[in-house]
Amino acid sequence: MRSYALVALLAGAAIATPVPQEIDWAAVDALDPIPEPTIPIVDAAAAATTVTFSASAAASSVASAVLANPTDTTPKMVKRVDDSGCSVQPGSSDTAANFLANTDISAAATSASTPQGWSLAYSNQPGSSQGVYGYMGYSVLASYDVAGCTASCDKIVGCSSVNIYFERDPSVSPTSTCSNPASQTVIKCVYYGGPIAAGSATNTGQWQNDFQVVIAGSNAYVNSSIATPAGYQNVVPLGNAAINAPNDCNGMNTYMGVKIFSTGAFDAGLCAAACSATSEYDRQHPPASGIPQTCQFFNTYVLYNGTQAVGQYCTMYNETWPAAYATNVGQWRGNDHFTIGYSYAFSNTTGGADVPVGCTNPAHP
Ligand SMILES: *[C@@H]1O[C@H](CO)[C@@H](O)[C@H](O)[C@H]1NC(C)=O
Ligand SMILES: *[C@@H]1O[C@H](CO)[C@@H](O)[C@H](O)[C@H]1NC(C)=O
Ligand SMILES: *[C@@H]1O[C@H](CO)[C@@H](O)[C@H](O)[C@H]1NC(C)=O
Ligand SMILES: *[C@@H]1O[C@H](CO)[C@@H](O)[C@H](O)[C@H]1NC(C)=O
Repeated sequence: MRSYALVALLAGAAIATPVPQEIDWAAVDALDPIPEPTIPIVDAAAAATTVTFSASAAASSVASAVLANPTDTTPKMVKRVDDSGCSVQPGSSDTAANFLANTDISAAATSASTPQGWSLAYSNQPGSSQGVYGYMGYSVLASYDVAGCTASCDKIVGCSSVNIYFERDPSVSPTSTCSNPASQTVIKCVYYGGPIAAGSATNTGQWQNDFQVVIAGSNAYVNSSIATPAGYQNVVPLGNAAINAPNDCNGMNTYMGVKIFSTGAFDAGLCAAACSATSEYDRQHPPASGIPQTCQFFNTYVLYNGTQAVGQYCTMYNETWPAAYATNVGQWRGNDHFTIGYSYAFSNTTGGADVPVGCTNPAHP
């Protein structure tokens, strides 16, 4: 059972909340930052699933074995211990620059077809994604198999996007005496329980001693559909904008507050549960006069701080607002730009409880 951090629980009677809805900074500040996952650089010991062969290293190893024992008819490859033997020789083609320029890699990325039901977030980037919501692990693949990568994602509950790429990894862990070993090419499929954004391919590698880890042919795919929570209908995709509802035609505030999740996978069902539970609470604690306000509509999206996902944001309302009111495309807070992605709205239209009395739906005011 996964546990979810539920922040700023505002269940209760109608709260005096300003219209329009600003990002709730107090709720955002209460969140723990989402840690950047460490996807290990694969070395020879860890990468049991990859088979690599470095022709130049093997050839020089055979040469060393022959020099050590010229009468051996089947020279064994020797383990190189000296730095000059371990590190690639000057003039070797085994360089980060050649890896980045490798046309086999770019061709694999640009010619890969997008599996049905998925959409391409970006293609053939020299970096893997960072700051994505809901890291769910990775696999090392034997080939650049996009369909296999998305099929594995489908088997992971909550997985909704993948990043597949070629990584130039050291064949042995670089050390001070083996500072620039021969490379191996590792193909990684990384799983996320949230959307991969187009501009997120910013992890371009790292140095390990004199060995340069680099990434090439990085593609990302996002599942095109989102599950509709039970009891809710009318999913409306809102892209990079959030609902910013005015008062309704009766001059009444329909906004019922915010919930933010920062652990686990992005899941509209979490907002649905919060919405239904808020209604339940309000029914159990009715106002002295009038009828309890119930949550009938919610908007959920990933809130970003720059390119870093902050959390899954949910705003709740007692009336359905159409897509024309999705006008909040982000806010600045000092030098930090907070933006919205993967925004969806859902209504509970049961019995018309989401429609204001006396207003012309869907244009409330
Ligand atoms: C996309 O996600 C939906 C909802 O979780 C799921 O039912 C569907 O199987 C996924 N589609 C594909 C093509 O993987
Ligand atoms: C949908 O709204 C109706 C009317 O308010 C309510 O009775 C029902 O419990 C709601 N369904 C969910 C799943 O919250
Ligand atoms: C937003 O990002 C900036 C810059 O990285 C950081 O200083 C700030 O604390 C972040 N704010 C939140 C609420 O995540
Ligand atoms: C929504 O809540 C407001 C109170 O702010 C109320 O006046 C209005 O009638 C409610 N709408 C519905 C459809 O119940």
